[in-house]
Amino acid sequence: MAFDVQEIRKDFPILHREVNGHPLVYLDNAATSQKPQQVIDALVHYYSHYNANIHRGVHTLSQEATDAYEIARKKIQEHFNIEHKEEVIFTSGTTQGINLVAHGFSEFLNQGDEVIVSALEHHSNIVPWQMLCERTGAILKVIPMDVDGTLVLSEFEQLLSSNTKLVFVNHISNALGIINPIAEIIEKAHAVGASVLIDGAQSCSHIKPDLRALNCDFYVTSAHKMCGPTGVGILYGKREWLSKLPPYQGGGEMIKEVTFEKTTYADLPHKFEAGTPNIAGGIGFGAALDYLNGIGFDAIAQYETELLNYATEELLKIEGVTIYGTGSEKTSVISFNIEGIHPYDIGTIVDKLGIAVRTGHHCAQPIMDFYNIPGTVRASFAFYNTLEEVDRLVAAVKKAKMMLS
Ligand code: ALA
Repeated sequence: MAFDVQEIRKDFPILHREVNGHPLVYLDNAATSQKPQQVIDALVHYYSHYNANIHRGVHTLSQEATDAYEIARKKIQEHFNIEHKEEVIFTSGTTQGINLVAHGFSEFLNQGDEVIVSALEHHSNIVPWQMLCERTGAILKVIPMDVDGTLVLSEFEQLLSSNTKLVFVNHISNALGIINPIAEIIEKAHAVGASVLIDGAQSCSHIKPDLRALNCDFYVTSAHKMCGPTGVGILYGKREWLSKLPPYQGGGEMIKEVTFEKTTYADLPHKFEAGTPNIAGGIGFGAALDYLNGIGFDAIAQYETELLNYATEELLKIEGVTIYGTGSEKTSVISFNIEGIHPYDIGTIVDKLGIAVRTGHHCAQPIMDFYNIPGTVRASFAFYNTLEEVDRLVAAVKKAKMMLS
C-alpha cells in the first residue's frame, strides 16, 4: 500500500479539531502519540462487550477477556521478535519496567560494582538506578556526550571493566532525537560480562526492533508512544534473568500458593503481574501494533525522515535558531532555541496559533546542563504530520520571534 498521509489522517479523529481557533498541528508526539479510531474502537468494544477480570473466572466474559489479553501479549511477542511469550511482562509503562529491574538488581549488586548510564537519558532511566546505587553501594558511571548530541563511544569503552554489571541506555534520546548505536553498546557490554537494558520509549514508534537479534537482556517501552493507550507498556527480559529477579509487587495473581507461613510465586510472566492489570490497555496495545504494522515501519521511517529534513532546513533559515542534536543518526525530533528568547515564550505563542510543541528540559536536565540552557522548544513529528504542518510551525516560530524580539 502506498503511503498516503491524507488517508492516514482520516483514522485520527483528534487531528480534525481546532485549538485556539486554528486547525490543530500536533507536534508533541515524543510526549505521547495520538490514537487512531481502530485503537479507540478496540477499547470501546472491550468495555461494551466483554469487560471482565482475566485469569480468574470460568465464566464466558472472563474467558473472552483473558483470550484477548493473551492474544495481545502474543502480538507484542511477534512484533518485537521475542523468543518466549512469558518473557513479555505487562507493566504500566516504561518507568515501571525500569523500576522493576532496578528493584530486582538490589539482590545482584555489591559495594563497588559499577553500572553505566548514558548522558542522553530521560530522568526515568537515571533516578531508579541512582536509588539502586544508594541501596547497594554500587557506582554509577556516565557515557559522555558530544556537542552534536551523540555518545562518545571511545569513552564508553574506557568505562567498561569486569566491575561493570549493568548498562542502561535509551535507543533514541527523547530530548534530541539522536539514535544511539545500541547494537554496538550491547556487544561491548556483553564482552565484559555486563547485562544491558534498552529504553525503547522513544524508538518504538519509529523503529521496529528485533530483540532476538539485538540480544539485549532487558527492553522496556510504553504503548502510548506508539498509538496505543496510556498506562500500559512492556518489560522484556531474558527468561534466565526474569526467573532470577524477585517479584516487584506482591498481590493477587502473582502467586502459586499462599499460607501465613510461606508464599510461593507464580511462573513467568505472572510473577511480575500482581493485581488486576490494565486489561483494556493491553488489548488496545495489540490493536495499535496491528495498526502500525498495517502501515509498515519502513514506510513510516522514510516519510518521517522527509518531515525531519524539511523541518530542519526551514527552521535553520530563521536567524538566531540553534538546533540541539545535530548528529546524523536522528529521528523526527527537533529541539531548538532562538537566541535571546525563552523556549516557554515560543511554546505559548505557537499554542495560540494551534500548534502543540513541548518546551522545557524534557525530563532530561543533564542534557540541558551540558548545553548550558534552561530548556528547548521540541517539535516531534509522527507519520500523520504533513509538510504543510511544518510550514505552519515555521511561520508560527517566525511570528513568535517577531513578537518577542
Ligand atoms: N518522556 C516524554 C517526553 O519526552 C513524556 O515528552
